[in-house]
Amino acid sequence: MPVPEDTLLRIIEYGTLAPSGDNCQPWIFRWDGERLHLVNDEKRDTSLYNVRNTASFIAHGALIENMNIAAAETGYELKAELFPRGDEDPLVAVITLSQAPVKPDRLFPFIDKRCTNRSMYRSDELGHTARKRLMEVPAKAGCGELFLVEDRQGKDILARAASLNDRLLFENRELHDFLFHQIRWSRGEAERTGDGMDIRTLGLYPPERVAFRTLKPWPMVRFMNRLGLSRLLPLRSHLFFRRSAAIGMLQMPGTSPKDFVTGGRVLQRIWLTATSLGLSFQPITGITFLIQRLWLEDGRGLSNGDRKLVEKAAAELNRVIPIDRGRAMIMLFRLGRSGPPKGRSLRRKVVMERTKP
Ligand SMILES: Cc1cc2nc3c(=O)[nH]c(=O)nc-3n(C[C@H](O)[C@H](O)[C@H](O)COP(=O)(O)O)c2cc1C
Repeated sequence: MPVPEDTLLRIIEYGTLAPSGDNCQPWIFRWDGERLHLVNDEKRDTSLYNVRNTASFIAHGALIENMNIAAAETGYELKAELFPRGDEDPLVAVITLSQAPVKPDRLFPFIDKRCTNRSMYRSDELGHTARKRLMEVPAKAGCGELFLVEDRQGKDILARAASLNDRLLFENRELHDFLFHQIRWSRGEAERTGDGMDIRTLGLYPPERVAFRTLKPWPMVRFMNRLGLSRLLPLRSHLFFRRSAAIGMLQMPGTSPKDFVTGGRVLQRIWLTATSLGLSFQPITGITFLIQRLWLEDGRGLSNGDRKLVEKAAAELNRVIPIDRGRAMIMLFRLGRSGPPKGRSLRRKVVMERTKP
């Protein structure tokens, strides 16, 4: 018997609490009465970071994992067939839910607590239990490799490499314009769209918020860059990123779309585990996507100057964590203890389209 639609809708709603790049929520749901077709909406994330839709595929993976946990909790077993029409087709997964004994997952209560926290963390240590629980996640999933860097020098190198992204954000117009397109400047605007990034979630102090708004028009950014703006911005993020208990990276053994979706599932379990341990979490992964843009797309969309910076960041990352073009960098992130975030991002209402079986 197919899953009742109200139950399915509730499970999908848990799914959509997943993270996505700039809160794009690149998913479309089609229900054929028996199976759910999860489709990537390529129009939602057109950013240079979304190399071959890989950032969106990670978000789809996180969504599937949330649905998997919520389904088990509700007495359903989730099966997801990935890319049944091939890697080039936007159909990411065909999902079936069949009745099964209730299987509580200790991560379920954290699905709606997980969030991105961009505030300053304390530099307390991660601790043995937290490290062990996080490292267990890919081991239990049977795929993915997690690196956790906790020593001062390693964190400093990674933080500096990751912070170069902030320079590129203000030197590459396409990156800049996409970010500002996704900012929601008031609560009202965030509620109207249900997507994008509410300015309060960026972790800026009030004077920084005012200054940030003046950087929306590109001519202003170009002018400020002549005064050294783009070189100053990474200093702030470097300071924030290195003040973390750990900087981590999840990698997958290949770079196919399936690797990114499966990596997204594992990532979501890592993020939920961090939440369950009281740890704040922020992806700091812009730079890894730009490195993958060099590797997979020959750096299309990047100027020669941008490329040099990205190559430099790749060499720095590689001093601490081994990276290579044959393996997917799913996410670079920082972890630590901190107060709550200044705001929470919203979601669009779930729309379930009907389709033929
Ligand atoms: C693939 C991917 C890449 C992301 N990259 C960044 C990033 O580089 N910096 C950042 O602050 N947040 C990043 N995020 C977090 C999203 O902006 C965040 O998930 C989204 O705004 C929704 O907010 P929430 O995580 O609080 O639910 C990323 C998320 C995903 C899934």
